[in-house]
Amino acid sequence: MPDTTPAKRYGVIGHPIEHSRSPHIHTQFASQFNLALSYERILAPLDGFAATVEEFFKNGSGLNVTLPFKEQAYDLVGPRLSRRARMAGAVNTLWLEDGQLHGCNTDGVGLCSDLLRIGHKPEGKRILLIGAGGASRGVVFPLLEAGCEMLHIINRTSAKAYDIREQVVALDPDASRRLSAGGLDDHCGDWDIVINATSASLNQNLPELPNARYRSNSLAYDMFYASEPTAFMRAAEQAGATQSIDGLGMLVGQAAASFQIWHGVKADVEPVLAKLRQEIG
Ligand code: ATR
Repeated sequence: MPDTTPAKRYGVIGHPIEHSRSPHIHTQFASQFNLALSYERILAPLDGFAATVEEFFKNGSGLNVTLPFKEQAYDLVGPRLSRRARMAGAVNTLWLEDGQLHGCNTDGVGLCSDLLRIGHKPEGKRILLIGAGGASRGVVFPLLEAGCEMLHIINRTSAKAYDIREQVVALDPDASRRLSAGGLDDHCGDWDIVINATSASLNQNLPELPNARYRSNSLAYDMFYASEPTAFMRAAEQAGATQSIDGLGMLVGQAAASFQIWHGVKADVEPVLAKLRQEIG
């Protein structure tokens, strides 16, 4: 008898949303496990996020949340937030459990799994994180959890970097020994991994970054991705970074972590990443 069970419904919600590559990534993961599911792009009105989520979960199973709604998703979930979501102050993965909405943030796990994949395990590393917006906040706790020796956040507006440090330390006082913050020119010492979490790459701009000093076998990681090396990647290699890479692997990694929350299985990111890399040219 043919299986007539309706395919479970998943999606990504944002504004705008037409650029999202998540449907493509999740349907490829699903085919690795012969899972029947649908995954759609959902455009929520800027003032209608909560209502759109409520409507979706009348028959939906899981939602990814993207800009500009990650903080609203955090507020919507209330007490049923994962520790990582709490630390990030933002949610990118929603699901129902016992009829209640739950939320997690998989962005930082996506970054850490990509660092592992390319042979730059965060454990024991000195990491410089540039930027103190939402993208930066989402990765701070997972980098600490992954055992980095030191994480230093610098930002053009230094107060925002200090704020992130303060908020993370308030939730995890142990973090204070390994987490520091400052302005863009405050990056003494040399670094194993330098991560660009500013939005400068979106416009192919270089963050106003004084040259960081790179250690041997170091990595410059741009959280944004593009068909060509970003201005940050090129400048970092000139400044002595051994290797540079963009954030396409992080995108696939965060999707794999959401997929694991929803379906309980670990997807193989490599073939999906290779295909995506080909597509973006
Ligand atoms: P996101 O959620 O993507 O992190 P955001 O909250 O708007 O976006 O934050 C953008 C980050 O990029 C901020 O850290 C911003 O620095 P300020 O807080 O000083 O504004 C940083 N940024 C953007 N353009 C930059 C540039 N040209 N040089 C340095 N930092 C830049």
